This record gives sequence, structure tokens and C-alpha cells, in this order.
Amino acid sequence: MNKDIKRIAVFTSGGDAPGMNAAIRAVIRTAAYHDLHSFGIKGGYEGMIKGELERLEPRNVGNIIHRGGTFLKTSRSEKFKTKEGRLQAFESLQANDIDALVAIGGNGTFTGANIFSKEFDIPIIGIPGTIDNDLFGTDYTIGYDTAINTAVEAVDKIRDTADSHNRVFFVEVMGRNAGFIALDTGIGSGSSAVLIPENGKTAESLIDTLKKNVKRKKLFSLIIVAEGNPWGGATKAAEIVKEQLPEMDVRVAVIGHLQRGGSPTAFDRVLASRLGYEAVEGLINGKKNCAVGFVNRKAVFTPFKKAISASKDVDPTLVRMAEILAI
Ligand code: F6P
Repeated sequence: MNKDIKRIAVFTSGGDAPGMNAAIRAVIRTAAYHDLHSFGIKGGYEGMIKGELERLEPRNVGNIIHRGGTFLKTSRSEKFKTKEGRLQAFESLQANDIDALVAIGGNGTFTGANIFSKEFDIPIIGIPGTIDNDLFGTDYTIGYDTAINTAVEAVDKIRDTADSHNRVFFVEVMGRNAGFIALDTGIGSGSSAVLIPENGKTAESLIDTLKKNVKRKKLFSLIIVAEGNPWGGATKAAEIVKEQLPEMDVRVAVIGHLQRGGSPTAFDRVLASRLGYEAVEGLINGKKNCAVGFVNRKAVFTPFKKAISASKDVDPTLVRMAEILAI
């Protein structure tokens, strides 16, 4: 047990993700169980720079497990990327006698944490919180399950209108440079095709799929497009199809930030609770400068350096299966 850690602070950074509140709650309550004093930092690294810390006790994190967003607020801080900004942040932590940090966020958050922990020798554990699921060292990131459920629900609705009009719909989902959201949304919504950065589906192959759909008497098609697909988003992909198949009635829908909001699913709440708990137990047991993830239903600690540099690949079986199930 690390007896030097008496006061910890938790913050959320980068894009918000449903389940972040559940993770904060788990951190605060696990810390209280171990008689640690805990604080919440408002607005991510920006709040750390400005010294916006508040004492949080178990009752302060009641009634939040079911809420989307992050009650601590979040930001993408440019200032924290500078040495001066990080020094200011460290001084704020020192002023509040903070011994260790729990950082909830994605790749950018962990990159900042990695630099900061080395510069100022402060133990930090990261919790993967992003709807994109693009972090190495965890099977799932907090918020991903909620986001794909939201996306599938949206595509179900688009399906009704696509079916009624015999249309081809291009539905764009988030995911930054990764295709996890698009692939699972495609499979879960029974789409005709997915365009993700990882599957290299060409325009020729998509045109071929759409022509085959007509022959197969599939009267409407749903194409799920990852925002980071090399074609340049759903609008661009739709233009290519409209040009080559002018007889088709093509529409585009961009789900956008809807995917980031809403009450977290039970899966996300349980995942977030587990990772929040493991982060604090990890700090107490001397773990530092690593992210805690969930791999094969077990908590796994991965050094920040690896978590931010190693890539997590989409499952090629799922890519193949998505194609097969769309015939
Ligand atoms: O990383 C989460 C994410 O929602 C990505 O999927 C998306 O590309 C990006 O954030 C959007 O960021 P912003 O909130 O700045 O629009």
C-alpha cells in the first residue's frame, strides 16, 4: 500500500462520453473507502491550470451514475500542451497538496498525462473514456456501448424512411480516425455496407454492392460511413454514388454529437464503475503512469507510452462477417 498518497484529484478531459460520471463516482467512493481525501478538477487540464478544484465526498457524487456528459465538465486544452501551462497546473496541484491524479479521457488526455507525470513525478492513472473505442489496452472504452446503441437506434429510424422510399442512405457516424463505431453500428443495424478506414472498401466495390442489391431485390440500402473513412465522409461517398448510379435516390444523414449524449447503458455504467474502482486501488497499490483497461473481463494496466502509441485494430472477422451478412 502506498502510504504517501493521501489526497487525489480526478478530472475528465477531451470529448465527453456517457459513463464518465459513473467513473468519477467510483473514484470518489473508492477513495473515501480508503480514507483518501479526493477532489474534482473542473474542466479538465484547463481547470487544473486555473486551480479549479473542489473537494468531493461520496454524497457529492450521488444521483449521477445515470447521467450522460460529465458533471466535472471537460475541455481540450491548448495551454496544457505548453511547458508553461503544465507548470501552472502543477503549481495548482501543489497548492492543494494533491499526491496523485486520475485522468478520464482518450488519447489526447493520456498523452498529456504521460508528459506531465514524467515532468513532475506525479503518479497518474488513466481511465479510457471516449465514444471512439480507439484506445489500446482495453476491449471497450467508456461511452462506446452507449454511442453504438444510440447510433443503431438512429439507423433503425432511418431504415423506416429508406424502406418507404426505396432509397440509398449514407449514414455518417463518429469515431475520429477509427471505424469501431461504424462497424458495430453497421452490424447491429443490418446495413448493406460499412465504409471504415480499416476495410479499404473501394468505390468500385460499393457500386458493385449496390448493383447487386438491386438484382437481389433489396429495394433500399443503408451504408454506414465512419467520419474518418478515406472517402471523406458520407456526403463525399454519396456524391460518388450519385454520379455513377444516377438512377438511385440517394440521401445522407449525419448522426453527429447525438452519439455523445444520453444516459449511459448498463454496460457503460458497470465498466466505468469497475475502472474507477481499479484506478484508485491501483494508485494505492503503487501503480502509476498507466491506463487501466478491461481486457477479457479483467482489469489490465498498460503504461501510458504503450496505450497512446500502440494501435487497436478492428476485428477482421467482424469486417468479413459484416460483408457476408449483407448479401
Ligand atoms: O473523440 C470523440 C469525438 O466525438 C470523435 O468521435 C469526434 O471526431 C470528435 O470527438 C468531435 O469533437 P468535437 O467535440 O470537438 O466536435
